[in-house]
Amino acid sequence: MTTYCCITGASAGIGKALAQSFAKAGYNLILIARSAEKLYKISQQIQQEYGNKVFIYAADLTDLQQLDAVCTYLRNFEEQILIFINNAGIGRYGEFSLIPWHSHESVIALNITALTRLTHSLIPKMKKFNRGHIINIASTASFIPGPYMATYYASKAYVLSYSQALNAELKEFGITVTAVCPGPVKTNFQTQAGFVHEQSTSITGISSAEQVANICLKVVHSKNIVRIIGKRNALLVFLVKLFPRRLSLMVISRFQRKRNH
Ligand SMILES: NC(=O)c1ccc[n+]([C@@H]2O[C@H](COP(=O)([O-])OP(=O)(O)OC[C@H]3O[C@@H](n4cnc5c(N)ncnc54)[C@H](OP(=O)(O)O)[C@@H]3O)[C@@H](O)[C@H]2O)c1
Repeated sequence: MTTYCCITGASAGIGKALAQSFAKAGYNLILIARSAEKLYKISQQIQQEYGNKVFIYAADLTDLQQLDAVCTYLRNFEEQILIFINNAGIGRYGEFSLIPWHSHESVIALNITALTRLTHSLIPKMKKFNRGHIINIASTASFIPGPYMATYYASKAYVLSYSQALNAELKEFGITVTAVCPGPVKTNFQTQAGFVHEQSTSITGISSAEQVANICLKVVHSKNIVRIIGKRNALLVFLVKLFPRRLSLMVISRFQRKRNH
């Protein structure tokens, strides 16, 4: 039986880099995102370059019917899915009340509902093999409330808390759950979130999608529960935990406000 790594949000950014890194490391892949065309191109390139098996599934994970169909597909997938990476995620920048409700709804549907639902449908399969690794792409945003991106930051706090709790439940079944927490990464995320300016480097450094993907590859050989990417980000999270929340909130609020002015 061959083993598979399933990646959501695999058509661009971190997910696309994850597909490349895991293919290079010899994993067969199941790639999920909305854009069938982009997924197809990536699968063709990977199959030609590395010879791995690649299945693609185009779906909008914020649509409950489509999400349901993806869950059924994964549950019925005949081979072992050893690694599952919940990477698809979106954010929306702006004053909370001025952002249309459907945008908040999409952030919650993708970052929380889809991530939780997909994990729920895959765990029984992993339990059966007494083996598996679930990587949830969280963020340094998981550690602090984020004014002007309130829903996104709160969704990432959920991902962190959920991953830690699930890891405690699942370790006796040979399954590890890791929350990987990058700081800013150079992808389409910022444009999609509605930032006017490129993300500032004044608080933390910017990673590449490839750096994040390579760290995820290392994480699958570890029992890490939380993995913060980059020393500066780790220091920032340490300071956030150390300082009174009121003070951290003041700093993050000023930083976030500047992003669009
Ligand atoms: N970039 C950063 O600064 C940063 C920092 C920390 C954490 N993260 C996290 O890293 C993850 C990946 O972000 P990224 O930077 O790689 O963003 P990205 O370049 O915008 O890529 C997002 C991916 O998610 C897919 N996607 C978006 N909406 C979807 C939907 N409704 N259904 C299915 N797939 C959907 C997109 O593909 P389609 O458009 O084809 O659907 C794309 O493949 C996210 O969870 C994000 O929160 C990013």
